[in-house]
Amino acid sequence: MLAPSFLSLSSLLLIPTTLGAAILRRDNGCNTWPSVGIKDNNASFELWAHYESRVAIPLAMTTFDGNSSSNATKAYLAPNDLGGTVIGTLFTLNNSGLIGAGSSSNNSDGSSSPNTTWISNTIDAGGFFPFSLSPDANDAGIADDYCEVPNTDPHGPLINGPLFGAQGSTSGWAICNRVDNPLFQGVVFNPASYSSDYGFNVSTCQNVTIYLRSTALGNLNT
Ligand SMILES: *[C@@H]1O[C@H](CO)[C@@H](O)[C@H](O)[C@H]1NC(C)=O
Ligand SMILES: *[C@@H]1O[C@H](CO)[C@@H](O)[C@H](O)[C@H]1NC(C)=O
Ligand SMILES: *[C@@H]1O[C@H](CO)[C@@H](O)[C@H](O)[C@H]1NC(C)=O
Ligand SMILES: *[C@@H]1O[C@H](CO)[C@@H](O)[C@H](O)[C@H]1NC(C)=O
Ligand SMILES: *[C@@H]1O[C@H](CO)[C@@H](O)[C@H](O)[C@H]1NC(C)=O
Ligand SMILES: *[C@@H]1O[C@H](CO)[C@@H](O)[C@H](O)[C@H]1NC(C)=O
Ligand SMILES: *[C@@H]1O[C@H](CO)[C@@H](O)[C@H](O)[C@H]1NC(C)=O
Ligand SMILES: *[C@@H]1O[C@H](CO)[C@@H](O)[C@H](O)[C@H]1NC(C)=O
Repeated sequence: MLAPSFLSLSSLLLIPTTLGAAILRRDNGCNTWPSVGIKDNNASFELWAHYESRVAIPLAMTTFDGNSSSNATKAYLAPNDLGGTVIGTLFTLNNSGLIGAGSSSNNSDGSSSPNTTWISNTIDAGGFFPFSLSPDANDAGIADDYCEVPNTDPHGPLINGPLFGAQGSTSGWAICNRVDNPLFQGVVFNPASYSSDYGFNVSTCQNVTIYLRSTALGNLNT
């Protein structure tokens, strides 16, 4: 399913080069929603992106390249079918840290390896949504920036599920094309002109709302 010929952008992706890309103040996940924010959800959930066109697509932790997931140590949140090799599609929240479950069934080279634990890293304004492999399968070093926020839209359940917030906001999410290969896309937080430093073409960004789906939430198939 992956085009064999896309270029690696890893140097651009991992080393933003200008001062425009600000690292946001850490918000400790649910502080913006002290009474309603949910910082622990251990019943594995999926993350979906809801476009303003009302189309919703599943997200995944991906390698952002075509390499096997078996030796990846960095991962990014992206559309399931447009982010390169899928590492996993299931998440939990632990004290506002997002933990991704890497599934060995997604080794693109057919190799089998143990399931892996991935921890959220701090997200930069204008940048991609990063994870790193936790070799010891614990949450040491996790960025506790994330929150499950009940969807209280008074206009009805346009989005049938709780929203996913980062750094105190549930807005600001977008899905943007990568510059090196516009067939690849990634989830970007607060896209801006300096998103190009992260390898994203800001003129292609489309706003999305990210929400949770799971059997436990009762909205997996809605
Ligand atoms: C998940 O959370 C519930 C409620 O807080 C708890 O009873 C349960 O033991 C937890 N399960 C795991 C696998 O941690
Ligand atoms: C991934 O593949 C690219 C070429 O497509 C290569 O340059 C890079 O080193 C690979 N990364 C890893 C971690 O193997
Ligand atoms: C990662 O795995 C792929 C194939 O499984 C291999 O071609 C590549 O060299 C490996 N990269 C590293 C850095 O080990
Ligand atoms: C494995 O990858 C496929 C295709 O990208 C995806 O549909 C599936 O959900 C992935 N499975 C897991 C467990 O991540
Ligand atoms: C690996 O993860 C997949 C998908 O979550 C699961 O179905 C499978 O049982 C797991 N394998 C092991 C050995 O835990
Ligand atoms: C979740 O947090 C608890 C309490 O901090 C910790 O004991 C546990 O190991 C964490 N789970 C993971 C998978 O890191
Ligand atoms: C996308 O959201 C940003 C704020 O996060 C807003 O400034 C911009 O106008 C939105 N774009 C569209 C096309 O609605
Ligand atoms: C960014 O996207 C726009 C609209 O698709 C396109 O015209 C432009 O060439 C792209 N820029 C780069 C650097 O890829």
